[in-house]
Amino acid sequence: MADYLISDGPTPLPQDGCPASQLFNGGDGLTYNDFLILPGYIDFTADEVDLTCALTKNVTLKAPIVSSPMDTVTESGMAIAMALCGGIGIIHHNCTGEFQANEVKKVKKYEQGFIVDPVVMGPKHTVKDVFQAKSKHGFCGIPITETGALGSKLLGIITARDIDFLPQEKYDLPLHAVMTKREELVVARANVTLKEANNLLQTAKKGKLPIVNDKDELVSLISRTDLKKHRDYPLASKDASKQLLVGAAIGTREDDKDRLELLVQAGVDVVVLDSSQGNSVYQVNMIRYIKRNHPELQVIAGNVVTAGQAKNLIDAGADALRVGMGSGSICITQEVVVKPSPKSAKRKKKDGEGEHTSTFMAVGRPQGTAVYKVAEYARHFGVPVIADGGITTVGHITKCLALGASAGMMGSLLAGTTEAPGEYFFSDGVRLKKYRGMGSLDAMEKNKASASRYFSEHDKLKVAQGVSGSIVDKGSVHKFVPYLIAGIQHGCQDIGARSLTELREKMYSGEVRFEKRTPSAQMEGSVHSLHSYEKRLF
Ligand code: XMP
Repeated sequence: MADYLISDGPTPLPQDGCPASQLFNGGDGLTYNDFLILPGYIDFTADEVDLTCALTKNVTLKAPIVSSPMDTVTESGMAIAMALCGGIGIIHHNCTGEFQANEVKKVKKYEQGFIVDPVVMGPKHTVKDVFQAKSKHGFCGIPITETGALGSKLLGIITARDIDFLPQEKYDLPLHAVMTKREELVVARANVTLKEANNLLQTAKKGKLPIVNDKDELVSLISRTDLKKHRDYPLASKDASKQLLVGAAIGTREDDKDRLELLVQAGVDVVVLDSSQGNSVYQVNMIRYIKRNHPELQVIAGNVVTAGQAKNLIDAGADALRVGMGSGSICITQEVVVKPSPKSAKRKKKDGEGEHTSTFMAVGRPQGTAVYKVAEYARHFGVPVIADGGITTVGHITKCLALGASAGMMGSLLAGTTEAPGEYFFSDGVRLKKYRGMGSLDAMEKNKASASRYFSEHDKLKVAQGVSGSIVDKGSVHKFVPYLIAGIQHGCQDIGARSLTELREKMYSGEVRFEKRTPSAQMEGSVHSLHSYEKRLF
């Protein structure tokens, strides 16, 4: 028993791990994989953990999850799903301002069960067109209006029953000859509630219910199949008028001011100033411009990775900061070392011209350190921080939150879901969707907005700062995001934090302890010693 030191008095606890301040002030830049959080005491269940967080000074979310403004990640479909699940989507700007504003409108106009942008055809479309639409969209209950567009007088509807038994030689028939006519339709008025619409569909035994205004113009559509899928979204992110929250990205050029106006008219709640290096006079001026002209609009500025960069944007009036440089899955920013051509490097920038980031390559910061350092500074001004890029597992979200971030922004983790833009395709028998960096040549060639995140307009040679690739099918956001939320709640429970506020408080007080992770600790922490295994996450 000589080894045991049994004393009469209380035994002091040995120091386990270290506070975040010690870990991140050691001089090395750390990624999420370079450290672990030590477990605490559990006296509550995981589903009690409250994930309410501040996206910006004035916008609160119930889940700390944001989808990235990338053209293979966030358009209206993703933004609607994210908001319903408690997070928010930021619509990308690699498109015209009109397209982007329309995507914002679709989110703001979204009402569960109502299809506000249905496929519509005109009386001169043919049966062949309907079959083509069916193979593309998977359905053929299509309203027919005078002009073939939403907002025009309803003439009828074409359903499978109207065309199923038509012989092929009649496929060129115009729809007015085969459709179910307006007089035979059951329709509802624009102010109908979902419950009333449901009852109407059930008694009329119809598959589709067109919604019309006083002039009998089509304004939306309700589908019986959608109603059957109807579910509750208790976490949904909504504004004061109960519309879903949505964000949109813009650049810092003169013409971005026009884009901004379109977005404001469409009802955008938050704008993200999209730049890979946000600490610039252009961004400072843009923040001031927005605060002067639209004081109610929340502005997320960035990207930044140091307190020094953060200071300028906070001083200019930023309502939140986006943190990350070079940590994204598709980024090659830190590895590209090509200098700009002497001609473009010498050329003086004109006033108001967008950021010129091509000389910043080989610059960045490991994401763990970047998040901790910026959040530590920004909290003194009440400015929330969004950890952007490099999140590849749900554990990484918990880690960024434990380092002081309010929310995590994800590209690759959400690309490949049903709600991400783009069609699935097969390669070697695997179902995939395209995912590309906004600084990839592929994306920059599509629209100059993407290039503006990385280059000035006059750069002759655009050097890629991202790659273009593919991501495995992840199913629907409606299943994937609840899995992420449950995972974060379990992480917080293990740490002993009942809420994200408590998590941050305990981190800054030093109660939450951290430990560095050696390469062999990382190997030990992953699946090992098996001949083969299947990894199913939920
Ligand atoms: P994840 O890791 O979630 O990262 O896929 C998404 C974030 O990466 C940034 N992003 C890029 N960074 N070159 C870069 O250096 C690019 O082409 C690029 N495209 C996106 C962006 O911050 C995004 O949210």
